[in-house]
Amino acid sequence: MLHKLHRLTACLISLYILFHLLNHLTALAGIQAHIDYMRAYRVWYRFPPVETLLLACVLFQAGSGLYFVWARRGSRHGFFDHAQAYSGLYLVFFLLFHLSAVLYGRWEQGVDTNFYFAAAGLHLGNYFLFFMPYYFLSIVAYFTHIGCALRWLLQTRLGVHGSDRLAGGLMAAGALLSGLIIATFSGAWYPVAIPATYQFTGLVR
Ligand code: HEM
Repeated sequence: MLHKLHRLTACLISLYILFHLLNHLTALAGIQAHIDYMRAYRVWYRFPPVETLLLACVLFQAGSGLYFVWARRGSRHGFFDHAQAYSGLYLVFFLLFHLSAVLYGRWEQGVDTNFYFAAAGLHLGNYFLFFMPYYFLSIVAYFTHIGCALRWLLQTRLGVHGSDRLAGGLMAAGALLSGLIIATFSGAWYPVAIPATYQFTGLVR
């Protein structure tokens, strides 16, 4: 039952993440493209019942995930088994930190948590030393976690080598996608000037 609910909430969160990562890719076309896309799809995920469900799913994922890591401690074997646990632990840390920062920025600091809110951590002072690996690993961990879950679910259909290749391929795709998004937010393709409103919002992102 707990496994089924973990999978179901993962699917709901993944629907959000699909559009979230597409949103970050739109930054390749410029900052305004990213802001316009976010404005348009916020209408869906900021609708209070939808956002409440999304945040509840994240909390449930984190809680049930921590329980699985604890319950299966000592019985994991091989690279992918461990990768699933470590990527899950990182996602718990990232999601709780990320969501607290976004909600704090929105409700307490009163800023629009848009492209600049995320990019500020990569541009101000030495904060990039924390935010670059922090964001990079978030997408890698997400793809790793999904890859390991699919490997386990599809093992009978794809065989051991096929499912290993699927998980490895998803991890590599996640690393590439993540590198592309972080490079874009860091100003690799065009200059990113952080507006004054985002320069005093502290370390939380
Ligand atoms: C480079 C990586 C990422 C960046 C720069 C980023 C940035 C952002 C920003 C700016 C927001 C605020 C959106 C708004 O104001 O409407 C946000 C919200 C959110 N992000 Fe991310 N994000 C990243 C990766 C991720 C990943 C990997 C996940 C999930 C595993 C995730 C999950 C969420 C969730 C659940 C929200 C809250 C939506 C809401 O209720 O308002 N993010 N992110």
